[in-house]
Amino acid sequence: MKRRGIWLSLALAAVLLSGPSAPAQEIHWQHLKGYDVPYVPTPVEVVDEMLRLVDIKPGDLLYDLGCGDGRIVVAAAKRFGIKAVGIDIDPVRISESNQNAIEAGVTDKVRFIEGDLFEADFRDASVITMYLLTSVNLRLRPKLLAELRPGTRLVSHSFDMGEWEPDNTSVVKTSYDDERHVYFWVVPANVTGRWEWSVMEGARSRRYTFQVSQKFQEVSGTVTSGDWQLAISDIRLAGDRITFRLDAEAEGKMTSFLYEGKVQGNTINGTARQVGIPRAAEFKWKAVRSPLTVVPLDTGEN
Ligand SMILES: C[S@@+](CC[C@H](N)C(=O)[O-])C[C@H]1O[C@@H](n2cnc3c(N)ncnc32)[C@H](O)[C@@H]1O
Repeated sequence: MKRRGIWLSLALAAVLLSGPSAPAQEIHWQHLKGYDVPYVPTPVEVVDEMLRLVDIKPGDLLYDLGCGDGRIVVAAAKRFGIKAVGIDIDPVRISESNQNAIEAGVTDKVRFIEGDLFEADFRDASVITMYLLTSVNLRLRPKLLAELRPGTRLVSHSFDMGEWEPDNTSVVKTSYDDERHVYFWVVPANVTGRWEWSVMEGARSRRYTFQVSQKFQEVSGTVTSGDWQLAISDIRLAGDRITFRLDAEAEGKMTSFLYEGKVQGNTINGTARQVGIPRAAEFKWKAVRSPLTVVPLDTGEN
């Protein structure tokens, strides 16, 4: 967990975070203490944007990884009434967080854990917030993708996830007279492998096979029906929701269908309808994946 060379990346990060004439944000260098990231609190306007991007709903459970003084955890509990957990390796930060929770009157909703975020269990999170470093995000990425449920929303202040492109990004002007990027991702389901489903066409049933490859949330694949390869486009995966457009035969002519479905393990259940026909009837589809065809998600490590 102690990282040589982190000083250089932190110094670079500090320079990047403040413009040449901006009043630099206070960096508590003395608090690095050999941890992965020093203590630098997120400005309140950036906290607001992080919480806006993750679109908090009742019942969410938020974890802030490296919670500092607990400001994100406390804000989420106070403003949205949700439960929230902060993890920090530094005991000083944990006592500040507990004190801040008392002052905000949210001790019944929040919990602070002193520990290393790389060893922590946060599988029950529905929302994760981070203000770490890109190098730390990259080390954390395999754990996030392997352990979090599909659909979990992640937000990171200033630092991205390398090849894992964000699903949304925004820029916030701060009182330090600088601009901060805020990155948002949704943990994708693993949809790799071979899926099959059937659709009734008149009196007969037509069988489709969808062979899928995936890198993070980017999905590609080929669809065949018998000896025919069909055109598939606009494939989107957002957590456990998949949508795509498929050109298939209907009543003797090629027609486009919009498919949407929810991935649950080796099953997708959803609806489909013909494109361009205002009152086209929706029909249900259910695809099943052969479990032996699933491959581990490419997290940049495999
Ligand atoms: C940049 S601060 C962010 C604080 C807070 N999340 C915020 O946005 O205001 C990073 C925090 O991560 C903590 N930290 C560093 N390495 C850690 C590790 N391996 N496990 C848990 N916390 C860590 C530091 O003590 C520090 O409080």
